Amino acid sequence: MNVDKGYVEAPIEPGIDLVEEIKRLKREKNAVILGHYYQRDEIQAISDFVGDSLALAQYAAKTDADIIVSCGVNFMGETAKILSPDKKVLVPDLNAGCSLADSCDPVEFKKFIDANPGHVVISYANTTAEVKALTDVIVTSSNATRIVESFPKDQPIIFGPDRNLGNYINSLTGRNMKLWNGACMVHEKFSVAKLVGLKKQYPQAEVLAHPECKKNLLILADKIGSTKALLDYAIASPCKQFIVVTESGILYEMRRACPDKEFIPAPADDSTCACNECAYMRLNTLEKLYLCLKYEQPEIKISRELCERAVRPINRMLELSKK
Ligand code: 13P
Ligand code: SF4
Repeated sequence: MNVDKGYVEAPIEPGIDLVEEIKRLKREKNAVILGHYYQRDEIQAISDFVGDSLALAQYAAKTDADIIVSCGVNFMGETAKILSPDKKVLVPDLNAGCSLADSCDPVEFKKFIDANPGHVVISYANTTAEVKALTDVIVTSSNATRIVESFPKDQPIIFGPDRNLGNYINSLTGRNMKLWNGACMVHEKFSVAKLVGLKKQYPQAEVLAHPECKKNLLILADKIGSTKALLDYAIASPCKQFIVVTESGILYEMRRACPDKEFIPAPADDSTCACNECAYMRLNTLEKLYLCLKYEQPEIKISRELCERAVRPINRMLELSKK
């Protein structure tokens, strides 16, 4: 067995039922599997809990499992580790990064903060532990507007790393937050022309969009929100057709929760297929999940000192999200 490539490489016993084996290992080891809505269908199906970034963090903060297996991207595993430093936090593949987190180098971000004294620093959860440690309060797309609004109107704010989410919050709140120039390469790729075409093809459909999309797409949306907010909207809406402008993994839960409704994925600019997938999220597979539980590797490791600095802005978010 080796983990040199960032995931366990080992033979899998021929003929075993991976789903049953994962369930058995989970019970034996008192492990919990947390899955994001962008995970492959079969991973969502076997997860103990599926949620958006905020819900996954909230779950990780309160679980009494000995092992957390974070099926998402690395910042989600890191958040779980920061909140539960004494637990073992495993990920099926350490290569599951995030283009938004990568767009914010901690050394450069520190320079940006130093160049703007007197600013409160608000960072999106899609950041590394080092960036979180430089931050006053973390937000996710489900609580960002509320948390920004909790500061006085005249409080100068730095917001990073997603410029699209930052611009969207500025437009909603009338603030003028200073924005880090980062973006998600998946959400930036959605095509306005193809979305307009879909709207013509499905004139009754409502458009659901994630705030990581560019403004020219967001202005075409009926609902803008986190993955969970989009799902809840689709469940509650009387409409029967939805065009979904976010990573297409969410369609699994939307179709499961609303079998009588139709969900149409919006395509990317450059794609020849009909949807838009996050290549990082798709790195996790049932095979890697099985091997990760079996060998308890790869594990998220963060120094105790960094956990202590990074947990403060996350706890502040969790506190502000309760109210
Ligand atoms: P949510 O917080 O809406 O789950 O989004 C996470 C993410 O990575 C979106 O690209
Ligand atoms: Fe990161 Fe974008 Fe993938 Fe979300 S969809 S995990 S922001 S790269």
